[in-house]
Amino acid sequence: MADHLDETQTLPFGAPTTAERDDAPVIELEGVTKTYRTGSIEFEALRGIDLRIEQGEYVAIMGPSGSGKSTLMNIVGCLDTVTRGAYRLAGEDVSELDEVELAEIRNRRIGFVFQQFHLLASLQAWRNVELPLMYRQVPGAQRKELAAAALERVGLGDRLANKPGELSGGQQQRVAVARALVGEPALLLADEPTGNLDSTSTNDVLGLFDELHGQGRTIVLITHELEVARRAHRIVWVRDGLIHTDEVNPR
Ligand SMILES: Nc1ncnc2c1ncn2[C@@H]1O[C@H](COP(=O)(O)OP(=O)(O)O)[C@@H](O)[C@H]1O
Ligand SMILES: [Mg+2]
Repeated sequence: MADHLDETQTLPFGAPTTAERDDAPVIELEGVTKTYRTGSIEFEALRGIDLRIEQGEYVAIMGPSGSGKSTLMNIVGCLDTVTRGAYRLAGEDVSELDEVELAEIRNRRIGFVFQQFHLLASLQAWRNVELPLMYRQVPGAQRKELAAAALERVGLGDRLANKPGELSGGQQQRVAVARALVGEPALLLADEPTGNLDSTSTNDVLGLFDELHGQGRTIVLITHELEVARRAHRIVWVRDGLIHTDEVNPR
């Protein structure tokens, strides 16, 4: 029996690749700028961002509308690339990767949670949750097992077969969190995750984030609500494309 991984074999999720360092910060941005070009007009949405987020941190990113939060989130989430500067994700330099490589990194390293849930309405909860594993070609039986375990972790072990329309907003967001976690990503990246929820469901989802943080997850939460940001342990304020303040949250 082979005592080492064959290179052609699918890596188990979360298995370190050669480029990944166990002790590396999850996020390391150095002098990051982002310039948008519309015809001949240029706009510098990020003007030199230095940001380092260690494993296990729970960080909220705040700022007024137009300050560059979404631009920053797109870069951190490998949905867009920097104009200048460096970005290392879990120790891996992702500044110069192409579209295909970025898609692969996103799938392997980042779990996304969005304001609008982005669940597929026709699929049962567990079918939604197994999706990131399908892209990794994990075998079917193992996908179902892992999806069920992820749904149990978010308190929905009794809702595996329900479709999104049969669940409350808070429960739908929990399904989205289970989907984000199923591949054991280095980073949970949430963009206004409670923006569409009532106060009960908001507390429900934020309670889940507290739990996940307690289990050592690294969470970056983008929000414009101070009440939500206060749940994090560190609050970074962005203003005019720069980090304005970066403080430990006394809570
Ligand atoms: N694709 C784009 N093309 C041109 N300008 C953009 C684009 N996206 C964002 N901007 C501009 O960059 C600035 C920051 O936008 P954004 O990152 O969306 O801010 P926030 O999420 O904090 O509201 C804004 O002035 C916005 O108009
Ligand atoms: Mg935005």
